[in-house]
Amino acid sequence: MVHPEGTESPPGLVQHRPEAPARIVVLVSGSGTNLQALIDAERAGPAFGGTIVAVGADRTGIQGLERAEQAGIPAFALRVKDFASRQEWDRALRDRVAEYAPDLVVSAGFMKLLGPDFLAAFGGRVINTHPALSPSFPGMHGPADALAYGVKITGCTVFFVAGGVDDGPIIAQAAVAVEDGDDVSALHERIKTAERALLVDVVGRLARQGWTIDLGKRKVTLP
Ligand code: GRF
Repeated sequence: MVHPEGTESPPGLVQHRPEAPARIVVLVSGSGTNLQALIDAERAGPAFGGTIVAVGADRTGIQGLERAEQAGIPAFALRVKDFASRQEWDRALRDRVAEYAPDLVVSAGFMKLLGPDFLAAFGGRVINTHPALSPSFPGMHGPADALAYGVKITGCTVFFVAGGVDDGPIIAQAAVAVEDGDDVSALHERIKTAERALLVDVVGRLARQGWTIDLGKRKVTLP
């Protein structure tokens, strides 16, 4: 493929080197505490290396959108039910996000699978955070599934979205202990504390350093 600076990448390699500050679009569906952590990191100063240019959601009336509004970041909501098909929604989301010319799209608690048209436009530039240690416990209920299985260590995973469910090339992971007496909510909150720190660290490094993904080997390199 040809990356934006026009240099040919070897086959199977996706490379991106954003110009500073990297343009970031964040997608949310709920409370948006991961979004807030990114907003706070950007506000802490230009050393972060990225700027959140828009926040998108798949629903209205959520705290994530309020956080964007309070921070003065352009925000929009596109609901699947307002489109004739899932594909039309996916294309509308692609077109809306494209208006902001992002270097990086961060799915931060966005509870929808991004479709083929979206990923064709932004493939290799979309990351997601999952509240479990991949490849264990993919899907919507990572903390509950980890608790039900009885693992003693779980955690969170930040990865490049490749089209499956929580299964793309891994960028970073953090471990979190399951404690006696944990219920799903207590465990998920402890994971989210680690998740926010990991996401801020990863997004900052991607923004500042750029990245290479070797799709065949599932290896992500930050130079
Ligand atoms: C995070 O744990 C994310 O991984 C998950 O949903 C949670 C979103 O939290 N899928 P928030 O909206 O960022 O507070």
